[in-house]
Amino acid sequence: MFTSAVTGSVGARRRRLSTKSSLLGLACGLMIAVASPAQAQFRDPQAAIKYRSAAMVMLGAHFGRLAPVAKKEVPFDQEKVQADVEVVKMLADLPWRAYAPGYEGGEARGDIWTDRKGFEKVTMEFKAAVRQLDEATQAGDLDAFRVAFGKVGQSCKACHDDFRVKK
Ligand code: HEC
Repeated sequence: MFTSAVTGSVGARRRRLSTKSSLLGLACGLMIAVASPAQAQFRDPQAAIKYRSAAMVMLGAHFGRLAPVAKKEVPFDQEKVQADVEVVKMLADLPWRAYAPGYEGGEARGDIWTDRKGFEKVTMEFKAAVRQLDEATQAGDLDAFRVAFGKVGQSCKACHDDFRVKK
């Protein structure tokens, strides 16, 4: 009775362990499956550098147009602001795959590839700030818009400070 209870629980633990390790195997497989198309997205590092720099230039242009609104130099025209926010939102998802392993170079610091966690953290913070900017704009809330604009600007700067080559 006692032995069978013990062996029973050992058996259950073995089963749990094997489920765990097969899930782990599945997760690793998925990671590889997700990583390889990202790798294959660009012909060579130069193409990746060009792509992400172009996305950054566009971000600069459309985010920059929001600055006079945030500074209250021009009125908050919700429709016009939303049009630029939509572009910023779309662009906020684009550059990161072009920083996959193998695409080192340009004005990107090597830290992007050696401090992956740090780079992903600032990327997530940036994207969260952009979501906040979108919500504030959709709500037509100028005060919230100004706060979110500041947060996005800070997250551009935070990433540039740590991961962009200083000129
Ligand atoms: C998570 C990191 C990160 C965030 C967030 C980020 N950038 Fe960048 N940015 C970079 C890196 C790295 C470069 C250097 C270009 C490269 O990758 O070769 C760069 C370059 C640029 C450039 C120069 C592009 C060129 O080649 O002429 C501009 C402009 C720019 N960023 C604007 C922005 C703006 C505006 C924001 C925020 C709305 C922003 N970036 C957010 C990492 C970031």
